[in-house]
Amino acid sequence: MHVICVASQKGGVGKTTISLNLGLALARAGNRTLLMELDAQGSLCLSLGLPDRARPGIAEVLTGAEHIGNVLLRTRDPQLHVLSVGRVDPTTVAGFEEALTRTGMLTGMLSKLESEFDLVLLDCPAGLGKVTSRALEAATHVLSPLQAEPLALRSVGQLLALVDRVRAEKNPRLTLLGIVLSMFDRQTPASLEVAETLWTRFPGGIILDSVIPRDEVFLEASLRGSPLLLMQKRPPPLARVFDQLANDVLDRLDTHGGGATEEDDGPIPLLV
Ligand SMILES: Nc1ncnc2c1ncn2[C@@H]1O[C@H](COP(=O)(O)OP(=O)(O)O)[C@@H](O)[C@H]1O
Ligand SMILES: [Mg+2]
Repeated sequence: MHVICVASQKGGVGKTTISLNLGLALARAGNRTLLMELDAQGSLCLSLGLPDRARPGIAEVLTGAEHIGNVLLRTRDPQLHVLSVGRVDPTTVAGFEEALTRTGMLTGMLSKLESEFDLVLLDCPAGLGKVTSRALEAATHVLSPLQAEPLALRSVGQLLALVDRVRAEKNPRLTLLGIVLSMFDRQTPASLEVAETLWTRFPGGIILDSVIPRDEVFLEASLRGSPLLLMQKRPPPLARVFDQLANDVLDRLDTHGGGATEEDDGPIPLLV
């Protein structure tokens, strides 16, 4: 089971939007996928149009009131499930986070899901606090959205430093899956400049090829509580970006399989 931590040093950069839309695209590509909401604000479930803190989830698992298998939310896609933060009392968020970040807690929860899922996306809260650190410790991979604006570029080193530290001290298998440029606006010079700097300053494939544009359709989707792919019978063209991102991610996880060795991986003639 691959566990992808969707994290950023900044808030409001598209972590939840990307988790949701990428999760559905990964599920539609045939992977048993779980979207796990680690942000106590419950923004993933709010993005799905659920009433605030309406369903039991992680909070109830932490108190022992529920077994994790009983609080997985089913979705329209049989391959996709959602695990909400649960009914976290907004006045006791610190207590929830304290329980969630107890040694071995997150890893223990994930190990119970091992046989049921191929991929888990951890939708982290903003910033590089305790929850994000624990998520990185429990994950196999990290995917970081970078908002196409100068401040995000200047602070991306903070995330990379934390990933290095977690890998060195706690979780040697943690791999940087990549940075995905989000809210990219080709009409805005500052946005273009950030993209150019990213592509030239970060060699070695750290930056994923897929780019998420800034578009009003995301606000409409969040208003309707829907991922882009399910907004209409014929999804908006932008939804395809997430199929492409899913392919990028699967390529990097190397789960496409195919079993081709270097020897037999030559071109296949079209004409027979
Ligand atoms: N590519 C985009 N274009 C326009 N708006 C976006 C885009 N991605 C996210 N948003 C909007 O920006 C806000 C923050 O996005 P969100 O995914 O919640 O960020 P985070 O989880 O990093 O805090 C939301 O209102 C969301 O609908
Ligand atoms: Mg979020």
